[in-house]
Amino acid sequence: MEKTVFFNGKLIPLSQAKVSVLDRGFVFADGLYEVIRCYRKKPFALDGHLQRFKRSAEGIYMELPYGLDRWREICYELCEETDLGQFSLYLQVTRGPAPRDHRIPEQYEPTVFAYADPVSPEMEYRWENLSKAMTLKDGRWDRCHIKSVALLPNILARDEARRKGADEALWLGPGQVVYEGTASNAFMIEEGVLYTHPLCNKILGGITREVILKVAAELGLEVRQEGKTIQDFLAADEVFVTGTKREIMPLVEIDGQAVSDGKMGEWTRKIHEGMMEYIARDCGLDSCY
Ligand SMILES: Cc1ncc(COP(=O)(O)O)c(C=O)c1O
Repeated sequence: MEKTVFFNGKLIPLSQAKVSVLDRGFVFADGLYEVIRCYRKKPFALDGHLQRFKRSAEGIYMELPYGLDRWREICYELCEETDLGQFSLYLQVTRGPAPRDHRIPEQYEPTVFAYADPVSPEMEYRWENLSKAMTLKDGRWDRCHIKSVALLPNILARDEARRKGADEALWLGPGQVVYEGTASNAFMIEEGVLYTHPLCNKILGGITREVILKVAAELGLEVRQEGKTIQDFLAADEVFVTGTKREIMPLVEIDGQAVSDGKMGEWTRKIHEGMMEYIARDCGLDSCY
């Protein structure tokens, strides 16, 4: 059966959702997105995602076409509509069709698209597969806190990682400080302290990142939001990256060098367990799967 998607105000079959070639999303990547993970049809951390969507819109001088209550309803409608069990919701807004001009039009009709996307079997339980990363000098723009659809640098980095046999690429800033991954936030644990880069324009404020910080504190792990170098990461006891789709992905190798003993760390396992409990509680479920 054909997928139903939300497109410019209505739920319609996917094949009927058509966008102008002059859409500023197509021509300039002038648009934003969000990805919300649903567990057994319950959207997780929906408010956090929608608040970030709103902040991203403010960051590109765009007013979202609906208030957050309407977005919430749209998400629930999509959850209701889909026959998928484990999925994420993808929301996208672009500045809509307009004559091609670098200047932001005074008036525009945003294009809105949202749908339920299955969680790939590869992503499910991915955290148990020990993953590898490579590093790259961060050559993205200076507004990485905005969840923009302009993802070409991330896509190229991820492709380079794949070609080199790695699962993720980590962006390095000056002094080889680890900022984040191409679609994830990066964490390391050293002597019972969890470190991650502080919120700033160099990283996306991950919703999963926030959850991990709360869960770690609940587990009695000290948390420090400070920049750490790739050398610190390589010498750490445990390293992992996090994201809405991947949840937690332990990294056991970076640039061909083993992290610690190359095995899953005990804290990572506990944080993952704590995270699954947190999500289940938040979604009102007895278990996530
Ligand atoms: C660049 C970047 N950093 C971090 C994240 C993790 O954010 P979240 O936990 O909200 O999915 C993502 C997610 O796609 C991302 O693209």
